[in-house]
Amino acid sequence: MLVVREEFTDPAITTDPADLDDIGLRPKTLDDFVGQRELKEHLGIVLEAARKRDQSADHILLAGPPGLGKTTMAGIVASEMSAKIHITSGPALERAGDLASILTKLDTNDVLFIDEIHRLSRQVEEILYPAMEDFQIDIVVGKGPSASSIRLTLPKFTLIGATTRTGMITGPLRDRFGLVARLDFYEVDELEQIVLRTARILKVPIDKHGAVEIARRSRGTPRIANRLLRRVRDHAEVRGDGKVSQESARQALAVFGVDELGLDKVDRSILSALCRQFAGGPVGLSTLAISVSEQTETIEDVYEPFLIQQGLLARTPRGRVAMPLAWQHIGETPPKIDPELF
Ligand SMILES: Nc1ncnc2c1ncn2[C@@H]1O[C@H](COP(=O)(O)OP(=O)(O)OP(=O)(O)O)[C@@H](O)[C@H]1O
Ligand SMILES: [Mg+2]
Repeated sequence: MLVVREEFTDPAITTDPADLDDIGLRPKTLDDFVGQRELKEHLGIVLEAARKRDQSADHILLAGPPGLGKTTMAGIVASEMSAKIHITSGPALERAGDLASILTKLDTNDVLFIDEIHRLSRQVEEILYPAMEDFQIDIVVGKGPSASSIRLTLPKFTLIGATTRTGMITGPLRDRFGLVARLDFYEVDELEQIVLRTARILKVPIDKHGAVEIARRSRGTPRIANRLLRRVRDHAEVRGDGKVSQESARQALAVFGVDELGLDKVDRSILSALCRQFAGGPVGLSTLAISVSEQTETIEDVYEPFLIQQGLLARTPRGRVAMPLAWQHIGETPPKIDPELF
């Protein structure tokens, strides 16, 4: 895969330095990518068919909570297609011209990755429609009454959009993707493989039980698994013999405030506010967000999906509700749930 680096100096093209830092850890082929079996199968078929026809792959939309591998998957698509990847994001594309300038620089079969695609402005999104569908854009030249529009034909490229919010993608945009895929939280055995793989790359001595302990507490998320592994390694180097075992992982995770379920301080304060301050709910998202001093978007995108998946919290038409498991987790007896809430 060729990452087009010189374009990172373009104001419209940015890449998160933390992501670049992780480049050594990112799997580079579909086979190397652990988990997401269904998505891998679908992508495998789409990419192989495109290669056979010697065409660019269909546009792909990847949705799912942060850290599950959307950016990684975009890189894999580019590398499987032996294509260049251009990386940008919704908020970086402020004006229609920003997107037009990127589109006109693409070569045939290039991959254009737009992260946080749900944050594209309306004007920019409208440029994208004909570009995706007919590989054409209309550029307005000049101003006022003498302004005219010229139509440019673009090379066939593959757009990969990533979003943490499928609900915020407009219908017309969503419909223009040939493959819409959702990434799910990972199973413990998949995260265990990811932890062992990362440990191998970072040369961290670890045994199976140590890897399972970290995997179990990673909120189903590879990024968190990798982060916890690093913290556990630090702890083992400073306080232990440098080896990661179940016991040394437990000690380190206790020091860093990661509990048995993998919940961190913010997760626990959400559950505790919900149960203790709001008597289990229902409570509105913004009230809940204020009471734990977080942004509503952060609660919705980062924290809630896992709490919901674990059956700790539920979204109801009247607001957020604590489930019995949440009460138990904070050490309280759950009250009876009103079935009318759901
Ligand atoms: N299936 C996987 N196998 C191995 N490592 C993975 C996998 N998925 C993700 N990772 C690792 O997890 C980290 C986070 O992945 P990535 O940046 O692709 O997530 P993302 O979905 O793009 O997150 P965000 O929404 O925050 O941009 C990367 O460092 C990558 O190495
Ligand atoms: Mg990403």
